[in-house]
Amino acid sequence: MDWIPVAGPWVTEKEVRYTADAAANGWYGSHNVYPERFERGFAEYVGVAHATSLPSCTSALHLALAALGIGPGDEVIVPDATWIATSAPISYVGATPVFADIDEESWCLDPAAFERAITPRTKAAIVVDLYGNMADMDAIAAIAKKHGIAIIEDAAEAVGSEYRGRKAGSFGDVATFSFHGSKTLTTGEGGMLVTSRDDLFARVLRLRDHGREPGDRLFINQEVAYKYKMSALQAAFGLAQLERIEELVARKREIFSWYARHMNGLNSITLNHEAPTTKNSYWMITAVLNSELGLQKEEVIARLRDRNIDSRPFFSPLSSLPAYRHYGGEAFWKGRNPLSYNIAARAVNLPSGFNMTESLVERVTHALYDIISAVNNR
Ligand SMILES: Cc1ncc(COP(=O)(O)O)c(C=O)c1O
Repeated sequence: MDWIPVAGPWVTEKEVRYTADAAANGWYGSHNVYPERFERGFAEYVGVAHATSLPSCTSALHLALAALGIGPGDEVIVPDATWIATSAPISYVGATPVFADIDEESWCLDPAAFERAITPRTKAAIVVDLYGNMADMDAIAAIAKKHGIAIIEDAAEAVGSEYRGRKAGSFGDVATFSFHGSKTLTTGEGGMLVTSRDDLFARVLRLRDHGREPGDRLFINQEVAYKYKMSALQAAFGLAQLERIEELVARKREIFSWYARHMNGLNSITLNHEAPTTKNSYWMITAVLNSELGLQKEEVIARLRDRNIDSRPFFSPLSSLPAYRHYGGEAFWKGRNPLSYNIAARAVNLPSGFNMTESLVERVTHALYDIISAVNNR
């Protein structure tokens, strides 16, 4: 049986045509045509004033923190369950990450845990739209306002998601997206920073171009900064994907609906939640195994691999990683963030790429039925 990968894009003749055009013509006076079209279109789609295309979401998060003036001595709150790209840029600017627990249903930052993690040193929180879901943004905004804390929305995984009819990326002071090859909208590698704050955007534009003022023709650097830009070739590819965004998001939701249908009745598995306030774009369809089964994610991943099916572990809590062994120790954080530890131990991301068909989804669900029955019989 063919190998089923866990993620992958949907590329059509349009992406190939736009990228070929950028390769042939996106130079000299036209070098900025595709980046500008992509940025303008993206800002309009998200419903924000400004967007700038970047090499990655990691660089976007770095710029967001730097533009907010966050540095040594400051604390930034992040959900414990996310990819390390959310938290690593906090260290790049010399600040300290503080890990907070997630909500049991959305798997995103829990507002109460967020508030408990606030100290006089807290300057910002990075709220992650995990696997395409969204946190209770109203509650989080109210807490941030009360304490004077900036919000960065890490929408890396959530292009096309919505909360109360507003698009992911339009919340907080600034938001970031990833266009890595596994994402719903891809440019191979790439990212976008979006904001409606004019002051932050001006700062970002200077920081991303070695400290030059936008429009500077004399190569005068006002400060030592960074070089974070996307090429016209990638922007052309991204523009083609953006013009197809409705069908990309609709297909993700359709793939989820196949899983939901074929797993209906399998009450030992919980799939991604969608609250009435939220439209989930289901970047990664994720199965949380009932704790009574006693099945750890590593075993599920291995058993699926035996059947030529790829999967990924739910993000290990950041606080459990060797990279953060000097930040208080796993036992301390496990006591503070029990849900992040509990859910991460027994959840896997299932194949969610655009190559999925309903019959491939059936193959995956049958494999899960087999794995669970074998456990029930042991
Ligand atoms: C939640 C989250 N934040 C940030 C990133 C970083 O994105 P990039 O790989 O584009 O730097 C990712 C990428 O997978 C992510 O999932």
